Amino acid sequence: MTSTKAILADQSDPLRSFRDRFELPDNVIYLDGNSLGALPKTVRQRVAKTISEEWGEQLIRSWNTADWVHLPQRVGNKIAGLIGAPAGTVVAADSTSINLFKVLSAALGLNAGRSKIVSERENFPTDLYIAEGVAKQIGKGHRLVLVDKPADIADALDDDVAVLMLTHVNYRTGYRHDMAAITQAAHDKGVLVVWDLAHSAGAMPVDLTSANADFAIGCGYKYLNGGPGAPAFLYVNPAHQGEFNQPLSGWFGHRAPFNFETVYAPSRNIEQYLCGTPQVLGMIALDEALSVWNDVDMEALRMKSTALCDTFIEGVEEFAAEYHLKLVTPRDADKRGSQVSYSCENGYAIMQALIARGVIGDFRAPDIIRFGFTPLYLSFADVENAVSILKEVLVTRSWDAHEYRVLGAVT
Ligand SMILES: Cc1ncc(COP(=O)(O)O)c(C=O)c1O
Repeated sequence: MTSTKAILADQSDPLRSFRDRFELPDNVIYLDGNSLGALPKTVRQRVAKTISEEWGEQLIRSWNTADWVHLPQRVGNKIAGLIGAPAGTVVAADSTSINLFKVLSAALGLNAGRSKIVSERENFPTDLYIAEGVAKQIGKGHRLVLVDKPADIADALDDDVAVLMLTHVNYRTGYRHDMAAITQAAHDKGVLVVWDLAHSAGAMPVDLTSANADFAIGCGYKYLNGGPGAPAFLYVNPAHQGEFNQPLSGWFGHRAPFNFETVYAPSRNIEQYLCGTPQVLGMIALDEALSVWNDVDMEALRMKSTALCDTFIEGVEEFAAEYHLKLVTPRDADKRGSQVSYSCENGYAIMQALIARGVIGDFRAPDIIRFGFTPLYLSFADVENAVSILKEVLVTRSWDAHEYRVLGAVT
């Protein structure tokens, strides 16, 4: 039974009509848009048209006639509008990991007299792995230094730190950094900042320009709904464009790729951060998915995200202690993104039991159950239902079954 409070909240929700723009199966409460966004309805037709008409009929002519060749810039400009970046500062390309390699290398090149990259031990592993790889690749004593908690970041910024590399919203806990304050503190110490926006682009308003961020990267397949393995994006502050060559010097980053020159001459603008041929089908899906955002009021999005998370936290609070669920996400909405996570024993099995009942979240080892709240296609009624299904799974111990302990390759 949905409460009157949830019914009223849904009736007055300014974003409620957006749910119709997504294909979502009946009987599913989808709390994993922070991992793979749902399918926007128009993507299906757009990709089909690209395949049948642009690829099937126009063949190679579509690089010009359908302007496939500029998809990285066009899609990048759409993303720019969601992250407070001016046109011409964002491109869509490659994966988040590869884009991190590019911008981190560029940042280290800009701060060449310094050798440390500072990040958090709790950062997403690919970010740490890429930073280790970049440091090793440069091979001049560069190294990654990790801090254990956000409060330790400021003290770690000594005069040998070249780059501070942080994920805006932590993938596991949902903790959100104060981007503007941290960037300012880093700049005061001569440190450049790379932000990973994987869990914030499309989840909340982001303003890279007012924060004066140096570089940013992020995923296309989470809150931007670009589909599995969608192209990622990267941002370079206009002040740094043209100053340094990123090392993946492929032909799409060349000043004039179709001059087929022997020697690499980098573009002096954001195109320098491209490498090879864009993944057209994935790019088309992301481009179409982004059209949903034309009509979204980002402040309303954030308000709803906060309210959805609060509703979930308050609902679970009633039985969390009894079933040993520990909230690891900040209770203070200003300090979190758009997800809520709990640490608990048997988290994997609990999540599998929830998924079997249509409540789809995910599990992050060793003990986190994670619920993402995407304001474009979730209602307050969904959140209440998810809370009662979670309660039922815990009260009945229905998670305690062999089938829910079989570990999938992806958790
Ligand atoms: C913070 C963060 N960065 C990066 C990634 C993934 O990078 P890639 O798309 O290269 O696999 C994720 C994936 O969940 C993430 O959470």
